[in-house]
This record gives sequence, structure tokens and C-alpha cells, in this order.
Amino acid sequence: MTANFAARHIGPRADETKAMLAALGVPSLETLITQAVPKKIRLDRALDLPPAVGEAEALAALGAIMSENRVLKSFIGAGYHGVKVPPVIQRNMFENPAWYTAYTPYQSEISQGRLEMLFHFQTLVTELTGLPVASASLLDEGTAVAEAVGIAWRHHRSSRNRVVLAGQLHPQTRDVVETRAEPLGMEIIEGEADDNTCALIVPWADTLGVYHDHSAAIAKAREAGAIVIFVADPLGLLLSKTPAELGADIAVGSMQRFGVPMGFGGPHAAYCAVADKLTRLMPGRLVGQSKDAHGRPGYRLALQTREQHIRRDKATSNICTAQALLANMAAAYAIWHGPEGLKSIAARVNAFASRLLEGAKQAGIEIAGDVVFDTVTLTIKGKAKELAEKAEADGRLIRVIDADRVAICFDEASTEEDLTALASLLGVKAPAEAKAAAPAAPRGDSFLTQPDFHAHRSETEMMRYLRKLADKDLALDRAMIPLGSCTMKLNAAAEMAPVSWNEVANLHPFAPEAHTPGYRRMIDDLDKWLSEITGFDACSLQPNAGSQGEYAGLLAIRHYHQALGQGERDVCLIPTSAHGTNPASASMVGMRVVAVRCDDDGNIDFDDLKAKAEQHAERLAALMITYPSTHGVFEEGVRDMCAVVHENGGQVYLDGANLNAMVGLSRPGDLGADVCHMNLHKTFCIPHGGGGPGVGPIGVKAHLKPYVPGHVALGTSDAVSAAPFGSASILPITWMYIRMMGGDGLKLATEMAILNANYIAHRLKEHYPVLYKGRNDRVAHECILDTRVWKDRAGVSVEDIAKRLIDYGFHAPTMSWPVAGTLMVEPTESEPKAELDRFCDAMISIAKEAARIESGDLPKDDNPLVNAPHSADILVADEWTHPYSRKEAAFPSGSMEAASKYWPPVSRVDNVAGDRNLVCACPPVEAMAS
Ligand SMILES: Cc1ncc(COP(=O)(O)O)c(C=O)c1O
Repeated sequence: MTANFAARHIGPRADETKAMLAALGVPSLETLITQAVPKKIRLDRALDLPPAVGEAEALAALGAIMSENRVLKSFIGAGYHGVKVPPVIQRNMFENPAWYTAYTPYQSEISQGRLEMLFHFQTLVTELTGLPVASASLLDEGTAVAEAVGIAWRHHRSSRNRVVLAGQLHPQTRDVVETRAEPLGMEIIEGEADDNTCALIVPWADTLGVYHDHSAAIAKAREAGAIVIFVADPLGLLLSKTPAELGADIAVGSMQRFGVPMGFGGPHAAYCAVADKLTRLMPGRLVGQSKDAHGRPGYRLALQTREQHIRRDKATSNICTAQALLANMAAAYAIWHGPEGLKSIAARVNAFASRLLEGAKQAGIEIAGDVVFDTVTLTIKGKAKELAEKAEADGRLIRVIDADRVAICFDEASTEEDLTALASLLGVKAPAEAKAAAPAAPRGDSFLTQPDFHAHRSETEMMRYLRKLADKDLALDRAMIPLGSCTMKLNAAAEMAPVSWNEVANLHPFAPEAHTPGYRRMIDDLDKWLSEITGFDACSLQPNAGSQGEYAGLLAIRHYHQALGQGERDVCLIPTSAHGTNPASASMVGMRVVAVRCDDDGNIDFDDLKAKAEQHAERLAALMITYPSTHGVFEEGVRDMCAVVHENGGQVYLDGANLNAMVGLSRPGDLGADVCHMNLHKTFCIPHGGGGPGVGPIGVKAHLKPYVPGHVALGTSDAVSAAPFGSASILPITWMYIRMMGGDGLKLATEMAILNANYIAHRLKEHYPVLYKGRNDRVAHECILDTRVWKDRAGVSVEDIAKRLIDYGFHAPTMSWPVAGTLMVEPTESEPKAELDRFCDAMISIAKEAARIESGDLPKDDNPLVNAPHSADILVADEWTHPYSRKEAAFPSGSMEAASKYWPPVSRVDNVAGDRNLVCACPPVEAMAS
């Protein structure tokens, strides 16, 4: 059986498939697919992919490829560091489906565990930086700096277009910032801030590892009204004054070295903290504290309604999927070590650097500067390459800056033996002790005093704390998460296992090419396979999320037009039904968004599209189209839409978030698209991690290939992520999936996803109208249930239904998107029929409860829907005043399986109160006392 992985990945058994087809009144899966997927978009051949193999064979094949990598100990630094992942975190969080299969915590009542950990992440960042507000992660250090520049730019209402560097950033960071700045007409210069400067960027430390005194530049910038951005190493901050004390308005950086492996570049969480005045310009997500219906504290995503999904081209950024799992790991690392542990790790790292620095000084070697945390940069005329080769022969990688200089960066994994060997390589003797070269003394006792950073020191306590938080949440390991457009499918164990392998986890992204042939082969395979699946000529795997794929794809279009001498093309047509990241990405590449109408069936209004393409023909840059549409429909006129855009000089960007409805049946590249992003964290099994990581590769047609993201480490430019291959260490998940499914398995998965969605639509249509069906009354891989009927008939809101589903043990479907007041359901192929039926039964039972409200049997203001969800403590309280029983409240489906029931830890969380009183980090103990 395990040899046939597709049969494990796909939920329904053969008899269940038969029963579902019978319910739909079709004789075969092929008939259903013929009805659901228009003939004119169908692929008429099998995918040309290697045949499927079983789990063991695929693991062996990937193992053989990855064993070609050489993992040496890295002293390269430059933003990526060796770590010791605490095994208690590795096993109980990183490799635990309760943590990694959760969705972004939009439904706060079922997300209290991960929200609490993200809240700790924010607290940690505010403590490290001294700034009052921190977000719950950005994608990587490079993009975090670019986002910070974006904050400064918007703070000045786009009126200042100069960014001044106070020192040398890491080359990859500068590359990403320059890529972002160019379309917005911003210039990045070294020099002094003036009244056209929106931001001063202070590298803390610079790329050579030196902490310079920037006080004069900062004072000048503040005088000029510029925003001061610190790019600070968080471990270094333990031995430094805070950026806030040093004059920062914003601090950003990578949290990788807080217990997250290098992974050949990612995924890692970046942090972002800001001064109060900038809170509302923050990119990404912010966890806040509010109250539940009974006045108890409850975490939630704060200012959520202001996320990019709503603000479209006015959005503060296009970040949607971020790095929640990695942020959680970083927070757990700080909780595990506590302030003393963190200070001691930082002090140990600094002692190695200080002793090497001292030894080098005594030997008369020229050094880049003598205030350092972890890195010593030495000048050894003409010998840099030779030294690096010697170090490599000895099992260590050091960084070559140029012909004369090397940098040696210590980290948590460095040892006394490493120091001795590296010192002797340089021909110096490191003294047994040296004066700390750090920018300041260790933080005092007031650092990180919040109780949770002190309470979990034994492994027993830590294990139980991680379990306690996981138990508060509803992830895919407990129940279906039927989120439309999010494709919450199985993340199989065999796919996940390689992520922890040494030769996957512990490679530096700038390790010599000769050390990473395994990675490059795997990436080449994926490039080929994903190109075949999507019908494009090449793929770039660099973007770290779908939104970043959109940005990279639009940038390719922009550069293509420029190369043709048509740089004036800046109009981007976007249907009103598009996901908010589409217009947000368009404005990031300097395009003007022109909305295209959708008709009453949710389809793009072709006449409006044609008219707008013609009206803007001189300036038309692109059409962004989601296929199948965000309404879950295969629009039949897609080829005509692409043609009309091409006729008017534009390019077609296809948002492939819904690719799970197409793989093996139809290819975006064959439909006329020039570029498309895929969400590997949807269709290709990378878990959602509670809000990330993700990977958003783009497929391009040959004419756009010269314009895909490059990277300084590859000798090119225009990077959209800090690492050349983005979140490389999670790519094996997708490799394993494709290798184990083969072309036929992938096609069957798509067909089963369509069957499951149609089965749900069929079972629920009597109770909730199904919006936007295709020609044969079929949906694609998801369906939109119109719950507004119950609002009209019984005053029951879509939120009431979503929260009541929690009592039935379900995560709600996507709520109020793309149509307000509806639920969009995407079951995926991985859910067995029993779970689909359990969900349908719950939805039908909820409709019956709503009918009781309509009939007056239950009052409008006191019923199981409006009071949902019901937490255990409320249910067992002595007082119960409601006109329905406790049993109806807690066990609405009739089954009394208390042991397997999901118990929400809070009742409904008050969103409005949370936004009005923004609390997004734990106060220190002293503040609580007062
Ligand atoms: C249609 C669509 N486009 C784009 C995105 C953005 O993708 P990501 O969250 O990976 O940035 C999403 C995310 O849910 C989506 O549903």
C-alpha cells in the first residue's frame, strides 16, 4: 500500500468515491471532470513527470541527491549563523503537526496557543529593540529592511525619495532594497540625510561586523525629519544599547539565530519593531490582546481589518503569508533559554570574537574595527582566497570579502577548538581572555522580566508548555480546515522528514557552489517539474510567498517592457474580485491599478476588460487574473481575455493560488499567461505553519526569463528575497510530493479535490445557496455558500455560523471573502468522505438552529449561534440561563465524545475592543505590579 502514495494522500477510498459520484448523479470521475472543467482549457496529454515511487524510495532518492552536499562548519556570517536548535523545540514544535499544520490565526478562538507564542515573539522583539510595537514576523532580513523603507516612505506621504545608508549593509540586503526602491523612484545613497531623505539606514553592525558610532548621522537625520531605521542583529542586541536608546524609529533584522537552522537561506522569521507614531503603517500581522465575551483576555490579530486584503492598492504592504512557525520557534528559543541563557550565549559568542580580535591585534594584523559582536574582519594582503581554502580544507568556511580581506563570524555552535584552529590559520594566538569588544555591557536585570520567559526551564515544563499551547488550537491534525483559496491539504510525514536532515538544514546560503550540488539538483528538478505542470519555460524559486511571487512576476513584466523601450507602460488591469495582494503588488512595482468589473456570476466582465485594455492601450502593462477565479469558477473566456491584453501590448499575470484545481487537467501557460505564481504552501503540500512559511515561485515564458529575480550571490541583481533560492530548506517537501504522486497521482488529486468540493456543494445547496457555479452547475475545487439568507431570515451573521462551527469541532471556511457575508469552502482531495459528511452535517445542523431562531423557538439575542463558541468553563459554571441546554451547546452533533472534542479556551473574542486598546506585547513585571 505505501508504494502507492497517492492512495495515502487522497482521502476518499474507492467505495466512498463511488458513493459521492452517485450522490452527484454522474457515472464516473471523468464525467464529473468533463462537466466541471471546460473542454477548451483541458490539457490533452499526461504530464511528463517521473513515474510515482513509494515513500521509502522517494526518501532514498532525495537522500542520495542531498548527500552530494558538503556540510562544513560555517563562519561566513553575513546574516546567517550556525545554531543549536533545542531538541525540545525541534521535536515538540518544528516537527509537530499540531504546530506546523495550523492556519493563519484569523479565527482567534481556535488559535489562542499560537497567538500566545507570537505575542511572546513580539514581546521579545520589543525588549531587544526598546521600541514599543513589534509585528508577528516578516519574510527575511532583506525584505524587512525594504518594508521599513516603505514605512518611512509612506510616513512622508511619498514626498521624499532618498534613502541614506549610514554604513555598509550586507550585499544581499542592499540588493533587495535597491530592487524595491527603483520602481518607486527612490535613490539609495551613502552620505548625509537632508530634507529629501525619508530614511537613514543604520547597519548595527555593518557587513564587516563593526559597530560604528553613528550618533552624528542619526542626529542629523532626526533634524531633517528622516525616519531612522536600525538593521540590528538580535543576538548582538543583548550586548548593546537598544536601537530605541540610540535613536531608532524602526528596527528590523533576522531572528534566524534564535534557534532556526540556516537551511540554505530559509525559511526564517524577520522582525520589525516601530515607534508608536508608525504603528498604523506596520507591514504584516500584529497580535493584540482583547477580551472575550466573558471579559477574559483573548489574543487576536489586531488591526486585522486594515490588512492588505481590504486596502488593495492602498495597502501598507503586500505581505500575507509570513513566517509564523519560525517566529514561534524563535520565541520558544528565548523562553527556553530565558534572559540569562540568551545573555550567556551572546557573551560566549562575543568572547570568541574578542579573543580572535585581540590575538590579531597583537600580531599586528589590520582589522576592520574594534567594536564588534561576533565578526572579525582582517586584512591579509593578497591572501584572502588562500586562507579560505586552508580553512575549508580544515572543515570550516570563512567569508572572503575581497582579495585582501576575510571575515570570521562566530555563533552559538562555535567551539574553543574552532577558535584555536582559526587563530592558528591566521598565525596568531588567541589569548585565554580578552576585554569584551562588544558595543556595550550585557543587558541588566530589567531585560525580559515577563514571567513566561522564566517559567519553563526544565524540559518537562517546556514540553508541557508547548503541548498546552498546541492543545488550545485547532490544526489539520484534528479536523478538516476547509478554507477556500487556502488549500489546507495533507502535509505528509515523508514530505516533512527531509527538512530536518543535516545536509538540508545546516548549509549556509553562500556556501561555495561546489558544496551544494545536491540542493542545486533538487532545485533544477523542481524548476523542470513545476514548468511542466504549469506550462511555462522556466521557474524561479526565490519568492518567499505568493505575494512575493506576484511582485517578482510584475517586476519581470516591468523590466520586459523597459527592455522593449516601452517603460511608460504602467497600467495594471485587475478584476474587482482579486485577492488584495494583487493590487498591493502592482502598486509596489509602480503600476497604476485599473479595476475591471465582474458580472453577477462572478466572472470577469469581458466587455469591460476589452474596453479598458483598448482605452489604456498606450500604457497597458499587465492584466492580473486569478484562475480558476477567486469565485472558484473556470472562466471559459480566459484565452480571449489573454488575447485582448496581448493585442493591446500588455502581459498577462496569472495568480496561481487556485492551482489545486488545475494540476494535470489544465496549464496556465497554455491558456495565454506570460507569468504565474504558485503557492507551494497550498497546492504543493508545504504546511501553512500557522501563517507561514510559504514559497511562491513564478513560472515564466521564455521572453520573460531574462527578468526573473537574480541575486548578488549568483553574480546578478534584482533580488526579491535575501537568499538566492528563498526558503530553500522547505523545497524538499514539494519535491517529495511530486516524486511520490507522479503525473497520474497529481491529476487524480485534482480530480478528487473537484469531487470533494462538488459533493459538499451538492449536500449543502438546500440549506445555503451555492454562488457562482460553472456552465453545468458544477463548481471547481471550492464553493461559496451564501449564508446571507440566514441573516435575512433569522438575523444570524456569517460570523455566528463560523463561531458555531467551532462547537462542532471545525475551523470555519474562509469568511466574507471574496464575497462579504459568505463562506468559501475548499475541502481539498485529502479529506475522506466521513470528514466531509461530518462538516456537511454540522452545517445542516447549524441551518436548523438558525431556522429555530427564525420561527421564534429561540430568541435572537440568546441562542447557540450568537453565543458561540462555548468554552468548557462557561458550560460547567453553576449558572446557566440560556434557553438551550448545555448539551446542545457543547455537543450539538449529538455525539458525546468528550475526549476527542475540541474545547475552545475562550468564548468569542471582541475585535473592536482589541483595536481600540492596542496591547501587543506583555508588559514587564514591574509595570504589572504598578
Ligand atoms: C488568490 C490569492 N492570491 C494571492 C495570495 C497571497 O499568497 P501568500 O499568502 O502566499 O502571499 C492568496 C493567499 O491566500 C490568495 O488566496
